[in-house]
Amino acid sequence: MNTSLSDCPIGAFDSGVGGLTVVQAMRELLPSEDILYLGDTARVPYGNKSPDTIIRYSRENMAYLRSHGVKAVVVACNTASAHALAVLQKESDIPVIGVIAPGVEAALSATRNQRIGIIGTHGTIQSEAYQNLLRQSRSEVMITAIAAPLLVSLVEEDWLSHPATHLILEEYLAPMKAARVDTVVLACTHYPLLKPLAQRILGPEVVLVDSAQNAAAALARTLETSAIKRSSGSGKGRITICATDLPAQFSRLVERFLGEKIKKISQVSLS
Ligand code: DGL
Repeated sequence: MNTSLSDCPIGAFDSGVGGLTVVQAMRELLPSEDILYLGDTARVPYGNKSPDTIIRYSRENMAYLRSHGVKAVVVACNTASAHALAVLQKESDIPVIGVIAPGVEAALSATRNQRIGIIGTHGTIQSEAYQNLLRQSRSEVMITAIAAPLLVSLVEEDWLSHPATHLILEEYLAPMKAARVDTVVLACTHYPLLKPLAQRILGPEVVLVDSAQNAAAALARTLETSAIKRSSGSGKGRITICATDLPAQFSRLVERFLGEKIKKISQVSLS
């Protein structure tokens, strides 16, 4: 094992707070790891931006994390994973993990009737990243893919079980019910918070695949195989959170998405 490298933090980035659902899953699975999280709050949302812009933003986020000595990076954003992961992996000499391949793998092992739903931002759905990987892995899968742009704002408003959210989610999920999918990929980092409501709408027999848990599991496997996992005797890992802007409600959102209190959040500049 490479001891000094194993003690370096893991970097993670997202367009904003949503990626903290992935970080929460990483904290549960890899409690000894230090984590440096960057939320690009000055430029959120990514979900409706062009692929070129998302690639440029992702490169800048990656450069920031690299300059702070991270040993691996989790692209904790579905839209950035959809458009920029391949570029970042090609340009990087440390492991870069996205949320799409782990979600696809989990969906394929969950489905029994080979009917899979995907719900995400416009960017993620239009990129066809999930659809292509699902079809490449299993040609017979039937896919229902829905862009659900309104959900990110509803989650940020904390309207997790509000009647308006119920109504909107029901509308988005209606084609999934009609297609009789038995598995739905929550392909946006904000959506794990809507899991209970989505489960109520779809019924208990539908499996909801959460990108957060599956990306954390993929990271754990990569750290093991690259021999850069921090030893469990190192105590509880530290978490450092920075963002490109600090809007008024940001620290409240951080606590809700991460599920723990954070003393200090720093504003950083990427240039
Ligand atoms: N983090 C983004 C994602 O997972 C959602 C928010 C945004 O549009 O930037 O796709």
